[in-house]
Amino acid sequence: MAVGTHGESYIETDPPGSPGRQPQGGPGHGLDGLAQVATKIRDAIESVIEGKPGVVRLALTVLLAEGHLLIEDVPGVGKTMLAKALARSIDCSVRRVQFTPDLLPSDITGVSAYNQERREFEFKPGPVFAHIVVGDEINRASPKTQSALLECMEERQVTVDGTTYSLEQPFMVIATQNPVEMEGTYPLPEAQRDRFTARISMGYPDPTAELEMLDVHGQSAPLERLSPVAHANDVRDIINVVRHQHVAPAVKQYAIELVSATRKHPELRLGASPRATLHLVRAARAYAALDDRDYVLPDDIQDLAVPVLAHRLLPTAEAQVERRRPEQVVAELVNRLPVPSPRK
Ligand SMILES: Nc1ncnc2c1ncn2[C@@H]1O[C@H](COP(=O)(O)OP(=O)(O)OP(=O)(O)O)[C@@H](O)[C@H]1O
Ligand SMILES: [Mg+2]
Repeated sequence: MAVGTHGESYIETDPPGSPGRQPQGGPGHGLDGLAQVATKIRDAIESVIEGKPGVVRLALTVLLAEGHLLIEDVPGVGKTMLAKALARSIDCSVRRVQFTPDLLPSDITGVSAYNQERREFEFKPGPVFAHIVVGDEINRASPKTQSALLECMEERQVTVDGTTYSLEQPFMVIATQNPVEMEGTYPLPEAQRDRFTARISMGYPDPTAELEMLDVHGQSAPLERLSPVAHANDVRDIINVVRHQHVAPAVKQYAIELVSATRKHPELRLGASPRATLHLVRAARAYAALDDRDYVLPDDIQDLAVPVLAHRLLPTAEAQVERRRPEQVVAELVNRLPVPSPRK
């Protein structure tokens, strides 16, 4: 990504001791530590996913932004592979749920079962009690089961029979789905989509990457060889660095203007929520950190606008007839809206 010409002007001096700027407790912390850990995870994922550096970077961005990731694409392009590779590269608890029409909400959250011996109910935690939850083909489950994930994703807790249980930290849901037009799918409700920080699509690999895939994946299963390169605690530390990234007021204002523009757009019947603004800025902090910067540029917001905003928007009936997609609308807004002056 190109750094804006006035990049330096978005830097503001944070008070001494800000975790993003100051090394905490020796080497390997702050942005340097983040770069080390992130590079290891990225390399691990790229050892199995060929020719998709942009997709891998977005997946890492979402991890560092404490968000959830939706991977949407046609069959066989490596969605499950990416989700598994990210989960495997970190030494943490991982659970995978294959979503099917008969899956029940309690299959996700867990159930209270009566223990005959102890003569009491005890809670059997479901698969959401893990650091990384891979929800495969999420749009094959019924809306009721999909919504069981709602509370978990937003509040990072689960309530079963009136008792609330906290989830792990970090906690990330990586869900895959086929495009909604495909047979046997239940489109995710808007509220559910809004909880995903970003939606990415894999896209086909280019011929060189596809050849590499044949050579590497033809004889062996590279995912089996992938062993963890970072610990859950490392991830927690670098998430903390991202939280303290600097965002200049002009950049925040820019994010707000972009999001507000989707709410007023004549081709959209549902614009982006305030949660979307929050996710956009959080993701931009992570994206900037991966670029080794401790401040966010409008370029980060621009790069992330489509993956962070498009999946939350609903086109009007007229726009649908004209086959206008929310991605196009967001891309046009990015081109049209003036980039803030750094000294504003
Ligand atoms: N870019 C890629 N790099 C390496 N392998 C790839 C890539 N794209 C697809 N593959 C290979 O294609 C196979 C199918 O991938 P995967 O199962 O992840 O697809 P999927 O998108 O989850 O499909 P479905 O929607 O049917 O579940 C895997 O064995 C994987 O190795
Ligand atoms: Mg799959």
